[in-house]
Amino acid sequence: MSNSPSSNHSHIAMIGLGVMGKSLTLNLLDNQFNVAGFDINEQHLSATSQEAQQLNKGSFLPCNSLTELLNSLKSPRVVALSIPAGNIVEQVIDDLLKSGLEPQDIVIDTGNSLWTDTIAREAKYQGKLQFFSTAVSGGEQGARFGPALMASGSEKAWQSIKPMWNAIAAKVDSNGLPVPPLHDGEPCATYTGPSGSGHFVKMVHNGIEYADMQLICEVYHYLRSALQLPPSQIGDIFTQWNKGILNSYLIEITADILKQQDFLTEHPLVDMILDKAGQKGTGTWTAINSLEIGCPTPTITQSVYARSLSSLKSRRLIGAQCLKAKVQPVDKTNPSAIINELHDALYCAKLCAYAQGFDLMKATSEQQNWQLNFVDIAKGWRAGCIIRATFLQDIANAYQQTPKLDNLLFADHFAHQVENRQLSWRKTVSNSSLHGIPMPGISSALNYFDSMNCETLPANLLQAQRDFFGSHTYSRIDQPESNKYHVEWGKSPRIEVKR
Ligand code: 6PG
Repeated sequence: MSNSPSSNHSHIAMIGLGVMGKSLTLNLLDNQFNVAGFDINEQHLSATSQEAQQLNKGSFLPCNSLTELLNSLKSPRVVALSIPAGNIVEQVIDDLLKSGLEPQDIVIDTGNSLWTDTIAREAKYQGKLQFFSTAVSGGEQGARFGPALMASGSEKAWQSIKPMWNAIAAKVDSNGLPVPPLHDGEPCATYTGPSGSGHFVKMVHNGIEYADMQLICEVYHYLRSALQLPPSQIGDIFTQWNKGILNSYLIEITADILKQQDFLTEHPLVDMILDKAGQKGTGTWTAINSLEIGCPTPTITQSVYARSLSSLKSRRLIGAQCLKAKVQPVDKTNPSAIINELHDALYCAKLCAYAQGFDLMKATSEQQNWQLNFVDIAKGWRAGCIIRATFLQDIANAYQQTPKLDNLLFADHFAHQVENRQLSWRKTVSNSSLHGIPMPGISSALNYFDSMNCETLPANLLQAQRDFFGSHTYSRIDQPESNKYHVEWGKSPRIEVKR
């Protein structure tokens, strides 16, 4: 694909010039691609035009109709949609079809669509257009200067889109570290495979993002409540941690946030923000997906619940009056020891959240026959996206070493890390419980870890209970698992029968 700005045709069209669409457009222009843009909101169109003019790179063609937009593109046309998830995607595609879209043309959904909708759309538009999807992570700044991109759909369509996506994506250097915008490096644009897989991988990214954020918040809460440290001092601790194995974008921004003063009161800003978490639904989708497929993601799911619980502020206010917590006072004689324990607890819990996310991807990949490549996915998350972290290089290495790794916790590197840090994690969880400081994410991760390393769980008793009241049968440890047994509990003498 030629990306000469003097070419008459646009290389790509962008429909939807809100925050993300505008930023992706400017990023494409920065990389010398010509973009045609359309938005029903005229202010969005003119704002993008103005900023495009100031850039003086590539060329931006503001269009007043979909027909004008389509006429500005060379066949096969590439049209990106940057619009909200939901039915509007179909409405816009139907309008494009009415405006002259042809079967060889490619439509890319760059929104946060539900992956099963993406699969259904690809089937729906078979023969009418090439439906492709690219999930974008990194928020406004990412979209503008280098997002992480998770692309899926036909390989043929990918070949047409790849040069543009590789150009605009975030890049990493040979050590896996992010490079500044417009510098050379390995692009974080991952082709994940068949239709829907890109949106699925992004959904899991968001599930992990929910957990990562929640775990950091729990550590903050503990430092605040148990050690009574002011936010700026906690910010300094996070700045310190960001230099080590916890180095990540989310730790970095947390440190920054905690040092921010309120503009009106000069209190720490964080103290002035209402403690009710919002959510747009991708964490819930991840939790639902894990429940449906039977692949446990307790830390991710707890993070969704933690947001829901936080939003029940008025009920919590009643609870604070009528539920008397009996707690043990905190021993503050050695605060650095507590801080070091929290560091290790955060690392271990974070690892569990990633292990759960990668497990969910493995289970769904097998179910859908996608053959997701976990080395590529981990590498693609090293820059641009919200969960970017140096830790992702370790994950990529683990899958490179053992492509069929059962669970991230079993990788030598991580097993060793958890072995060394585990006691701190246990102390943190037990202390949080004794002091009455909620840690749903960090403690659920420890329960996940302890269930994963437990040879015999009490599900034997549970199976017997199920058989008692519902004749649901059980397998015996001394017989093939496929043989099912039932006890005639109501009879005397009780007998065991093979079903
Ligand atoms: C990203 C983010 C992005 C967005 C989420 C957060 O990767 O860029 O995940 O997609 O911030 O939609 O959504 P919540 O409102 O659910 O936190």
